[in-house]
Amino acid sequence: MQRESNSKVFIFDTTLRDGEQAPGCSMSLREKLKIAHALNELNVDVIEAGFAAASPGDFESLKTIASEIDGATICSLARCNPQDIEAAAQAIDANPNKRIHVFVATSDIHLEHKLDMTQDAVVKAAFEGVKLAKTFCDNVEFSPEDASRTDRNFLVEVVNATIAAGATTINIPDTVGYSIPFEYGNLFKYLIENCEGSENVIFSAHCHDDLGLSVANSLAALESGARQVECTINGIGERAGNTSLEEICMAIKTRKEYFDFHTQIETKKLYPTSRLVSSITGMHIPRNKAVVGENAFSHEAGIHQHGMLQHASTYEIMKPEDVGIAKSNLVLGKHSGRHAFLDRVTELGFSLNTEELNAAFVEFKKLADRKKEIFDSDIEAIVINSESGITGPWELVDLEISSGKSWGASADIKLTHNDGRILENSSNGIGPIESVFKALEDLTGYSLKLTNFEIHSVSVGEDAQGEVTVTVRYDGQDYRGHGISTDIIESGALAYLEVINRIDRKKISRIR
Ligand code: KIV
Ligand code: ZN
Repeated sequence: MQRESNSKVFIFDTTLRDGEQAPGCSMSLREKLKIAHALNELNVDVIEAGFAAASPGDFESLKTIASEIDGATICSLARCNPQDIEAAAQAIDANPNKRIHVFVATSDIHLEHKLDMTQDAVVKAAFEGVKLAKTFCDNVEFSPEDASRTDRNFLVEVVNATIAAGATTINIPDTVGYSIPFEYGNLFKYLIENCEGSENVIFSAHCHDDLGLSVANSLAALESGARQVECTINGIGERAGNTSLEEICMAIKTRKEYFDFHTQIETKKLYPTSRLVSSITGMHIPRNKAVVGENAFSHEAGIHQHGMLQHASTYEIMKPEDVGIAKSNLVLGKHSGRHAFLDRVTELGFSLNTEELNAAFVEFKKLADRKKEIFDSDIEAIVINSESGITGPWELVDLEISSGKSWGASADIKLTHNDGRILENSSNGIGPIESVFKALEDLTGYSLKLTNFEIHSVSVGEDAQGEVTVTVRYDGQDYRGHGISTDIIESGALAYLEVINRIDRKKISRIR
């Protein structure tokens, strides 16, 4: 079988499709393009950049990404119907490396309660879907949705039909995160042994993390012969999310003697990419998150610190620099020049163009006026903001707060709009945050429902920057925004204003 001789694991990133389906994670075209470029630099094999037929916005993003990205294969999802498949083909047409990914559900539960289709009708739809996709491009992936809860004999029948129709990759999704590793691994063994022509296709794992087993399940599939993993940066995705790209890639790399396979991922780009996705989606990375969390490489207990001082291998199985965490004791300050700043930015794994560097340097100087010592985490926050630098139409010009235990708080806010308006307003509230949010709503004309407010310190010390992340519900949708400042009330104002800007930009792009 080819699997023994071919030990490369293909990394299929679906941050821009399955990842974007996570509540509050929807992204604009510019944001998706920024992430697509970062994924390409990370050297992923396939970027599933959207679902062309899902919305005009998805179609446009796919089209732009397909025409700009040079390297990774660009893929669009499609249901097994001509409209979806034609839209997918059209959206990715500009790229010479393209893939259409067709899917249809196969479990009894889905057939009965969702599709109202017979098994025969599903086999026919899958066969015809793949056949039609093949008329547009050679590279066609097929997914039997909810495969892990599908009757095995029927699964073999569907896979046989789609291999016969020309599918080149067969993806076996654990759509609801129900499988456990031994069982999921066995399923791959069974399919590879029993499907006709299995030696001519790549089998792929696609796992959800409902039971926290997505990485373990994906590894079990690889051990059983799968050679593609579908995953997302930071594991974002529907419900509990998808397999985390950084975790699966570092598991394969760290245990290379155990697994006889490898990926082509540039692991040094994992951390910057993870921060970029977190900043764009507003999905905060938990401190204890494997591989990219703040605590992943810090050692608190005395006995651990002692061991680390003797030799890092006592308590560290990966080197922070291998995932792109280039911490140093070097602290920058207001006398640090452009050169020192650029050196640090490069060491931290970011590559900025001149425009982004200029913007980041201005922010660095502003921060250095407010804060004596600038740490790596401060620089990361600045760079990621200027990298994702999608701002406006509203901008915060001024903010004054007064508050007292006995009477509450009031906020005076001045905003500009890129159509030339300058607006000022003051509002009262129980505390400073409520008064700021009220003033912003009054000025911009929105009525929003705050559902979550988180704050954390970017670095150390009383003058550390505070990063606020807010989640807001508007018009039945969740939006996230974040803001960073040495003044935590200003961080809150910036986060809320980011949400308002996201909503405004979405409305404007719809009008166009
Ligand atoms: O989870 C799932 O089943 C999917 C398919 C569309 C591949 O995302
Ligand atoms: Zn999925």
